[in-house]
Amino acid sequence: MKQWTLEERYRVLQSADEIKDLYDRIQTSNYRQKYHVQPMTGLSSDPNDFAYYKGTWHLYYQWCPWGAVHGLKYWYHAVSTDLVHWKNAGVGMWPDTIYDNKGCHSGSAISDGEDLYMFYTGNHRDENWVRTPYTCAAILGPDGQPKKLPEPLFGPRDDYSEHQRDPKVIYVPEKNKYFIFIGAQTLDKKGTALIYESDKLLEGWKFAGQLNVPGFEDFGGMWECPCIVNISGKDVLIFSPQYTKLPGRAESTNHNVYIVGKMDYDTLTFTPESGYQYLDFGFDFYAAQFAANVGDPEKAILVGWIGLPDNHYCTEPEEWEGSMSLMREVRLCGDRLIQNPIPEITSLRDEEIAAEGKLPAFCEVEACFTGGDADFNLFTKADGTGGVTLHYDAASKVITVCKAGMNKRFNENVGETLDMPLTSDLKKLRIMIDRCSFEIFANDGEETFTAHIYPEADEHNYTITDNGSVKIWTLKPSVEDNFIV
Ligand code: FRU
Repeated sequence: MKQWTLEERYRVLQSADEIKDLYDRIQTSNYRQKYHVQPMTGLSSDPNDFAYYKGTWHLYYQWCPWGAVHGLKYWYHAVSTDLVHWKNAGVGMWPDTIYDNKGCHSGSAISDGEDLYMFYTGNHRDENWVRTPYTCAAILGPDGQPKKLPEPLFGPRDDYSEHQRDPKVIYVPEKNKYFIFIGAQTLDKKGTALIYESDKLLEGWKFAGQLNVPGFEDFGGMWECPCIVNISGKDVLIFSPQYTKLPGRAESTNHNVYIVGKMDYDTLTFTPESGYQYLDFGFDFYAAQFAANVGDPEKAILVGWIGLPDNHYCTEPEEWEGSMSLMREVRLCGDRLIQNPIPEITSLRDEEIAAEGKLPAFCEVEACFTGGDADFNLFTKADGTGGVTLHYDAASKVITVCKAGMNKRFNENVGETLDMPLTSDLKKLRIMIDRCSFEIFANDGEETFTAHIYPEADEHNYTITDNGSVKIWTLKPSVEDNFIV
């Protein structure tokens, strides 16, 4: 694995020419995707600033141009009119002020119909590498570039640790006010969120207090990327707790959870209706964000990063890694989220192919099951060995997913086997495969499982037990992979 110096990781991008050769080289990779948003070069991580604004969906994401490494972060911008077809739109936020001298870190956006307001963490470090996170704002200008406010909205509080970042801005009609949730860590290293409020988007922000979630006072060491949305009259809080192991997550210390409940903006208390649940049971799903300005109170749109902070992926030697998940339509059923790829994704179906054991590199798979234990193995060799095994145990309603049979193994230290417990008997799996990723939607979105995978030429087959039947569609490309800085 390449060892990066601080200078290399935090090098400022001066001109597009500096990464054009890298881009050309990466274009020849066997693992470039066709219908997922992915970085032109380098590393993409958290989705940021995901919002509908004047007829266009805007998605920004954390981007380090130089390689598969977390270094100086830019926001890269992608646009879509249907959440399926995406175009690269160039760098969306440059770290070019003293407040963000070591990166424009994660944030969110909101539109008042007139303008798109962008909020982000300015990651400042001084000459001794001491970090000060600032909450900064910008307005998207007519030229597609953000116009940054000259000064941050507010700096960090000194009664919390340096981990204060990832502003999520929302408007709360009952209070006729805006609120910002900031992911934070207490001085005794407990994860939490801080809440700020204001009548106006670009001024008047004051600290309202710490978010109180009864039962979650000691839950992880930092809550990255908090986000809150109202679906069908209930509040859904999501965040990415880190520095802790959680049940069923093997050795990983990075997770993405949701809690359904009620947010009281007077007492700053989020009262859970039940416990926390995993947003996704897979190996690689993190920092998910709900889109702003969706305009339908019965649903939300969610996107996550296919990747985890401390993991390493097989495209690292090719100097790129990480992609955005498919955009998910999220609805609420009781205290559970139902997550499916947005319905328009079926427009990518090209041709239904005979289900004869071959698994194309870009495809949608639908497997239906008639009951009892089942085995469905993906990316196997032609003789059915190896691959990613999915074993369903009907008595416990658990699917155990193991990727240890692949030729290319990675992140073995955090575990290669994870369970996806179902809430009802296994009837259907919908699996979206895009060369180096697969996303499983079980029983019409009751559970999801997302992961990277790096099949080699001999690993494009599947096997299934007799109680399962398969349909497969090849898919058309929907994401342009062109070079725009
Ligand atoms: C989550 C995170 C955020 C931070 C960003 C930096 O993956 O650590 O908390 O803003 O990534 O890229």
